[in-house]
Parts: sequence; structure tokens; C-alpha cells
Amino acid sequence: DWTPDSFIETTIAELKTKLGEDKVVLGLSGGVDSSVAAVLLHQAIGANLHCIFVDNGLLRKDEFESVLDSYKHMGLNIKGIDAKQRFYDALAGLTDPEKKRKAIGRVFIEVFDDAAHEVQGVSWLGQGTIYPDVIESVSVKGPSATIKSHHNVGGLPDFMKLKVVEPLNTLFKDEVRRVGAALGIDQNILGRHPFPGPGLAIRILGDITPEKVDILQQADAIYINNLRSAGVYDKVWQAGAIYLPVQSVGVMGDERTYENVICLRAVESLDGMTADWCHLPYNLLAKISNEIINNVKGINRVVYDISSKPPATIEWE
Ligand code: XMP
Repeated sequence: DWTPDSFIETTIAELKTKLGEDKVVLGLSGGVDSSVAAVLLHQAIGANLHCIFVDNGLLRKDEFESVLDSYKHMGLNIKGIDAKQRFYDALAGLTDPEKKRKAIGRVFIEVFDDAAHEVQGVSWLGQGTIYPDVIESVSVKGPSATIKSHHNVGGLPDFMKLKVVEPLNTLFKDEVRRVGAALGIDQNILGRHPFPGPGLAIRILGDITPEKVDILQQADAIYINNLRSAGVYDKVWQAGAIYLPVQSVGVMGDERTYENVICLRAVESLDGMTADWCHLPYNLLAKISNEIINNVKGINRVVYDISSKPPATIEWE
């Protein structure tokens, strides 16, 4: 019978045999899959696992620092790379969602390749691929898939020539979570909502600037913190704020304002393929709206997305 403990025991034994004294490089995203893969590999080969965590400047507020800290506490051999400016430069002026995704994928590969080169004698690429990623012919999820979708673009980056080790490629998401819990991984990592690889870049409609990222991070943090303190975070499948490139008139004291709109999105779903908008309590929405408008400079209006998928998608881009 499958149990998390038996899976962990056999997988670690298999990884030890397969990898011996070899070195593995793995990109962490802050998500569940790459984190669980990293801890399994770390238990099997220790410091021969070299983890790389890239700050693309498109993560949630303070997320890079706090996740990097959790990883260090877990004892992982990890290098955090501040590549914010490289991503902002590549995104400057881009408005088309697919062009933004491509630019982010390309820069991620460049940054990861540079970092992988610093690991002397590495021969394996570790990935948090799970079973649904294996059976989905074209997957859009996670940095690993970003890498896959770039297989055919020009020559392969050097790290793509490495052998691949994917310890989770027989598991479903709920099994990955159970394995993660049995490994003692923090609920703060295991319980987090899915977050797209391109991050806030596809939640800022139109072109990206560091100023817009800052505004969206503030609004999103107020939103997510309120979901947590109201005890609804774990009941929602995915939630996030979206920055709309729309200005509307408002009034502050006796001043007229002309500022941007923040949209709140929260959905219930099993796998992201279909989704229903969450019926969040009105008093919670009211509190969040007030906090955002009173605290986030540049925002004078908050709206709530009441569209389900299909036909709307979860993300706006
Ligand atoms: P949609 O918007 O297609 O989203 O309903 C379904 C799920 O996929 C996530 N998503 C992405 N994840 N790269 C990712 O890693 C992407 O480009 C991307 N686009 C959407 C989305 O957050 C939701 O969980």
C-alpha cells in the first residue's frame, strides 16, 4: 500500500543508488512541488544538491526573503539570486501577455544557466515534475515547464544537457502534499495557493514597471493577509489581486482623484481546469477594499471578479 513514509523510504534509497556522489542542481520556485523534490534530494545526497532560487521581481510582497529563509532553515544548500532588474529590463514596454511570458521564460533560463555554471562538475538537473505534468503534453505550470517549452529555441542552454532526476513524477498533487508533510515541510510552504511562474507580470495588465509591481504587491498583501486572518485562505483554491490599467475618478477629502483600479480574484477549483468564483463574505470584502484604498497610494477603487471558468480564465492574462 502506498503511504508517504514508504514512498520517502524507497525514493531516498533509489536516489542514493542513482546519484551516488554526483551533484544535482535544482531551481526552487517557492511552490510545493519543487520544495518537496528538493527536500527528498537533500535527504538523499545532502550538500551535493545545489538549489537555486531566483528573485524575478514578480513575486508577492516579501516572498523572496521569507521563502529563502524557510529554505535555509530546512538546511538546504541554496543560493538566492537577485535578478529583478534583468526581468524588468526584459519586460519594459511589453504589453502582450504571451510576449511577457516568453521574455520571463528566456531571462529565467539565462539566469539559471549562469547559476548552474557556478556549480563545478554538476551532472544532474533536479525537477519537481509531478505525474499530471508528465501526462499533460503541453504544461504551462512552473519553471520546469518553462524550461521544457524552450527546448526548441536556438541551442539548448548548458544545464539542459544535464541528466534529469524527477523524484515526484509518479505522484499526484495531494500525494506530494502528504509526502511534504511527512518530511516535516512547513505548512507555510505546503499550504500555499498555486502561483503562476510569470508571477505578478500577468496580474498587471499591460506593461510592467517596478512602480506598478510595488502597488500590486501592497494591495495583494492586504488581500491575502485578510483572507488568512479571517480563516478563509485555506478554503480558497487560489486568490490574488490584479492591477488594471484603468483610471477612474474618486474623491479624497475635498480633492478629486484620478487613480487606478485593483481587482480581487478568488476561486474554488480542484485542478485549475474549471473554477467558480468564491462567495467571499461582504464584510470581509468591505474591510479589504477599505484597507487597500486607504493605504495603497495610487488606488482609489477596488472591484471583485465574479466570473467563473469557463469562459473566464483564472488569470486575466
Ligand atoms: P488560467 O488563467 O489558465 O489558469 O485559468 C489556470 C492555472 O494555471 C496558472 N497559470 C500559469 N502558471 N505559468 C504558470 O506557471 C503560466 O504562464 C500560467 N498561466 C496560468 C494559474 O495561476 C492557475 O492556477
